[in-house]
Amino acid sequence: MHFSFWEKLGFGVLTAAWVAFGSNFVGNALIHAEPLEKAAYQVALPDAATTESASTEGNSAENALVMLASADPEQGEKVFKKCKACHSAEEGAKHKIGPNLWDVVGRAKAGTDWDGYSAALKAKGGDWTYADLDQFIAKPKDFVPKTKMSFAGIKDAADRAALLVMMRSLSAAPKPLP
Ligand code: HEC
Repeated sequence: MHFSFWEKLGFGVLTAAWVAFGSNFVGNALIHAEPLEKAAYQVALPDAATTESASTEGNSAENALVMLASADPEQGEKVFKKCKACHSAEEGAKHKIGPNLWDVVGRAKAGTDWDGYSAALKAKGGDWTYADLDQFIAKPKDFVPKTKMSFAGIKDAADRAALLVMMRSLSAAPKPLP
C-alpha cells in the first residue's frame, strides 16, 4: 500500500494528536490518583486510627459544638433541606431512604424501628450525643466507615451547629446543650 504525501501528513497529525491526548489523559489520571488512593486508604483504616484522623480534621467538629449556643435554628432548617430527600423529621413520620430523625438527639444509634440500618451503624453503639452527630454529619464515612448513608457531609462548622440546634428541636423534650 502506498500513501500520498498528504495521507502521510494526515496520519502524522492524527498520531501526534492521539499521543498528546493520551499523555494528557494519563497525566490527569496520575494527578487524580492521589486523592483517590488516600480516600481508599482511610476507609481501610482500623477503628482507632479512623477516630484519630477524624479528630485531627475534627478541629472543625469541635468548633461546631462551641458554636451551638449562638447557632440559628432557622439556618439549620435551610441546611436540613439537604437531608430531607432521605429523612423525615416529624414525630411518627414514615422512614424514607434513611430513618426518621424525630428525637434523634440522645437516641440510641440505629435506635428506631427502621429495618434498613447497616451492620456498621448497629455495631457503632452508644447514643447520638451532640459530639457524635457533629462528627457523623461532618463526614459520615469517617465516623462510620461502612455506613449506608451516601452523603459527603457538611464541612462548614457553623452550618453543622445550626443543623444540630434545629435537630435538637425535633423533640417534645429537647436535650440540654453540651
Ligand atoms: C442519600 C440519602 C441520605 C441523605 C442525603 C442523608 N442521609 Fe442520613 N441516613 C441515610 C441512611 C441510609 C442512614 C442509615 C445509615 C446506616 O444504617 O448506616 C442515615 C442515618 C442517619 C442518622 C442516624 C440515625 C439513627 O437512627 O441512628 C442520622 C443522625 C442522619 N442520617 C442524619 C442526617 C443528616 C443531618 C443529613 C443531612 C445533613 C442526612 N442524614 C442526609 C441516608 C441519608
